[in-house]
Amino acid sequence: MNRYQSIDGLVSADGATQNRQIYWNEDIYQQELEQVFARSWLFLTHDSMIPNPGDFVTAFMGEDRVIVARGRDGTVRAFLNSCNHRGNIVCRADSGNARSFVCNYHGWAYGLDGALVNVPLEADIYGEGFDRSTLGLKSVRVESHRGFLFGNFDASAPSLVDYLGEMAWYFDTFMDVPGGSELLGPPIKVRIKANWKFFAENFVGDFYHAGWTHAAALEVIGGALAAVSGNKMVAPGFQFATTFGHGFNASPGTDEMFPHVHQGEIARQFEDWMRSRIPVVRERLGKERASIYNAIWDGTMFPNTSFLRGIDTWKVWQPRGPKELEVWTWTLVERDMPEALKQGIRHTNEKTFGAAGMLEGDDGENMEGNTHSSAGWVTRNERLNSEMGLGNDGPHPDFPSQVSEPADNEAAQRNFLRMWETMMTARDWDEIMAVRRGEHGT
Ligand code: FES
Ligand SMILES: [Fe+2]
Repeated sequence: MNRYQSIDGLVSADGATQNRQIYWNEDIYQQELEQVFARSWLFLTHDSMIPNPGDFVTAFMGEDRVIVARGRDGTVRAFLNSCNHRGNIVCRADSGNARSFVCNYHGWAYGLDGALVNVPLEADIYGEGFDRSTLGLKSVRVESHRGFLFGNFDASAPSLVDYLGEMAWYFDTFMDVPGGSELLGPPIKVRIKANWKFFAENFVGDFYHAGWTHAAALEVIGGALAAVSGNKMVAPGFQFATTFGHGFNASPGTDEMFPHVHQGEIARQFEDWMRSRIPVVRERLGKERASIYNAIWDGTMFPNTSFLRGIDTWKVWQPRGPKELEVWTWTLVERDMPEALKQGIRHTNEKTFGAAGMLEGDDGENMEGNTHSSAGWVTRNERLNSEMGLGNDGPHPDFPSQVSEPADNEAAQRNFLRMWETMMTARDWDEIMAVRRGEHGT
């Protein structure tokens, strides 16, 4: 590990305060790319985006470009998208179907598994010692959870399912329904001048901001969430914080009340779907998960994959330096939903969390303010506060992980930041797992 700057004390031992440098300092950011992004499971794409042999998408893992391709054998593989000759981007398309990937600069060609398969004029201009087999694109570990594909650069990292820990059980609330869930793409991409962690933290547990930041938008949207607009009430619900930093809030409905932000005909279709589906989920996954299947969720899988249910968005916060990020947004739907409902949900998602989305716009302005005001010479060493509900979380008889009530709490944010601090300082995954399992008793 290259040490750029000491991390000690930047996040307090209980996670409740943070030094603001973690949100803008370039040295810390470079350390993040190495210690966090190069060792974590990062979202790549969903099976539904690349169903056929030869289908591919290009993605990012931190700032590393990767190609994710389905081989002739049906296996999905990922590898760096940077040519081993002189470094050019090998594939500039967002997605497509290919037999091979040919670099623009001199024409080196790589197969669907990243192997270097053709070098123009090889026999004429390269010597005997030239060995194509050593010049393939560096491969990435790829694992899937119910069709959601993730990559990891670290051979010693735990399996995806172990890394998800308790979160796998919660993900299955919507990923393990009959037919499963899928994403509608291609992703919408938006640049925002803010640190990626402010968004990841916001989704992991900040229900508190919804009634204030989004007060006007929630009034316009109407439905169940309008009740919290202007902080008229504290919404009922739970917050969950898992061993490896993943977490979420869930604010449940009832058998006759379905929290969501859809409007008009889409709302009616969505409610019909939920009404018919809740008994199926209860039968398949049990009453505990059925109770949160019908809920508004905001969640983050550490470090930079976030999602909402009831708004049905799936996001990756792609870091672009400490003070900028690119937000990639897909629409999250159940595969067995009628096509008209899927397209209706896509419409709601674009209206709320797309490029000009009402809710994304509200959040972006705040996150830019958080990031850039924290860089001032004096301001930078003032600490930020996340102490809401400190000590109120603990084990729950029905739900795994640390649980707190109501959803207005900052336990999941503290847990996210503690995971970040552990990864920034730990030598290897053995140490990360020992520290985190020690803190959670898991
Ligand atoms: S840089 Fe790719 S072929 Fe030369
Ligand atoms: Fe928000």
